[in-house]
Amino acid sequence: LRHLTTLENLPRATIEHLLDRAIAMRDACAHGTRKLDVLAGRTVLNLFFEPSTRTRTSFELAARRLGADVVNFDIGFSSTAKGEALYDTLHTLEAMHLDAIIVRHKVSGTPEELVRHAMSGVSVINAGDGNRAHPTQGLLDVLTIRQHRPDFDNLVVTICGDIRHSRVARSDVHALTALGTKEIRLCGPAALLPEAEEFPQCRFITNFDDAIQGADVAIMLRLQKERMAATELPDEAAYFRQYGLDCKRLARAAKGCLVMHPGPLNRGIEIASDVADGAQSRILEQVANGVFVRMAVLGEVLAR
Ligand code: CP
Repeated sequence: LRHLTTLENLPRATIEHLLDRAIAMRDACAHGTRKLDVLAGRTVLNLFFEPSTRTRTSFELAARRLGADVVNFDIGFSSTAKGEALYDTLHTLEAMHLDAIIVRHKVSGTPEELVRHAMSGVSVINAGDGNRAHPTQGLLDVLTIRQHRPDFDNLVVTICGDIRHSRVARSDVHALTALGTKEIRLCGPAALLPEAEEFPQCRFITNFDDAIQGADVAIMLRLQKERMAATELPDEAAYFRQYGLDCKRLARAAKGCLVMHPGPLNRGIEIASDVADGAQSRILEQVANGVFVRMAVLGEVLAR
């Protein structure tokens, strides 16, 4: 693997290899090896054109734990604010001998554009592009599921929320499909669901009570207001009544249903606090796994 821009069409064996590698990273960290040196002398650049807490921090931690140098590019204080084109920024940064660029951008396809225009051997890792892909989030989500429920061919997963605008949902579906998940249900208001042709392998359900019934995993997503026109914004109280995950709804799911959310959470809109902080919540486990998955991906793409 030279770049990681999407999980779409990635073979099951590659995904499983990355998950196994993430577990090996976790075990190495657990045994007191807080810092490995496999990327000593390598330089990784965080190039985030959209805000991030989890992804940016965990990529930085992952790179540092592998011994790499990390540069956090500050868009607000960079020459992009003076109108510099993305490719000029890319070539300028490449001239400083980077090994990997981790990019987040609101425009779908930006990571592939960087791969196409790169002049050096730099690796590109997608940290989220538009509504298209967030591959390391997809990997950390299936890693979290696998730790509790490795039997994907017996698993019903419900993804609920603003799926139309969600790169997380897309990468989750790609990873879950590759791993042979028995049933993937996509739930949300009709206006926030993707076209059915995009995911022929999924069941589309607009009633959340039906979609959560018997589910083994519930992945809740926030309303991506930043990608909606003002007229598209649902009333938040009404949305919570129909699509919020509270204890009563969770009781309809299978016993021990894993509650997941990629963050950031909007409590009281897509998820109630007592569920987000409850015994079935795996949300902070997802965050912890994010560091190990990103260590695995960096180790993989820079292994040359
Ligand atoms: N899940 C996720 O991508 O979170 P951040 O936006 O905080 O990186």
